[in-house]
Amino acid sequence: MRPRARYNQRCMGKLIAVAGKGGTGKTTVAALTVRHLIETNRTPVLAVDADPNYTLGDALGIRVEKTIGKLREEFFGERAQIPPGMTKEAVLERNMHAALEESKGVDLLVMGRQEGPGCYCYLNNILRRFLETLSSDYRFVVVDNEAGMEHLSRRNTRKIDLLLVVSDHSVKAARAVGRIAELTDELKLDVAKKYLILNRAPSDVAPDVRAEVERAGVPLLLTLPDDAVISRADAAGAPLLSTMDAAPAARLLGRALDSVL
Ligand SMILES: Nc1ncnc2c1ncn2[C@@H]1O[C@H](COP(=O)(O)OP(=O)(O)OP(=O)(O)O)[C@@H](O)[C@H]1O
Ligand SMILES: [Mg+2]
Repeated sequence: MRPRARYNQRCMGKLIAVAGKGGTGKTTVAALTVRHLIETNRTPVLAVDADPNYTLGDALGIRVEKTIGKLREEFFGERAQIPPGMTKEAVLERNMHAALEESKGVDLLVMGRQEGPGCYCYLNNILRRFLETLSSDYRFVVVDNEAGMEHLSRRNTRKIDLLLVVSDHSVKAARAVGRIAELTDELKLDVAKKYLILNRAPSDVAPDVRAEVERAGVPLLLTLPDDAVISRADAAGAPLLSTMDAAPAARLLGRALDSVL
């Protein structure tokens, strides 16, 4: 794929990162966020799936052919085959562009797994630079992080404009919110705004969950209901982008995002 026409070379796209305990709804929130940005013409959007068990492509209805992880493996395999006159960095950057899956209003980059032996520092540094340059081609970058927060904990130098921490209506998930908040502080991550989304929760939050949420110290942005439209899309394997017009969760999240973006 050829790189998109530059959005704004001097200005980084706003970075929205989604984090939270496993299964709480991170990918759903990331996909609905992308959807809202497209709906409100805040494009182009770069969606980054930083979960080795990647599912954001399915949620967005984008078929994933290449991942950065596969690309790394290929790169190690073809190390001896750098075309004459090209640097290793140039070959890698070309391949990274090829890993971008393009769709209407949004491109998707899937990190995939870091497999195999060997030191990835060199490649990861090139990848970080590539992502930083790439960010300036987009108005928004939305990152779906994995539950372990590996990428967040790998000292991202980039400022996070909005960190959305997702929890379900459980004390365990709310506790994980506290740990994520501690981690972002410990790593001195540059996070401009940090909010909690309580997903699949009743509007009347249980006292134990509420107490844990308050302890976590991340302000509650909104409570999303268990949404039958999302469940139906899930059961049918349909992408969230195509079916969400009637989803109350999509509308609620859109409104809440507008209040903090
Ligand atoms: N508000 C909601 N209403 C109904 N179903 C939902 C809602 N939020 C998420 N789900 C469903 O719950 C399941 C888990 O959601 P999702 O995949 O977004 O979580 P996750 O945090 O990304 O999980 P993982 O840690 O495995 O990546 C999915 O089947 C999703 O469709
Ligand atoms: Mg997920």
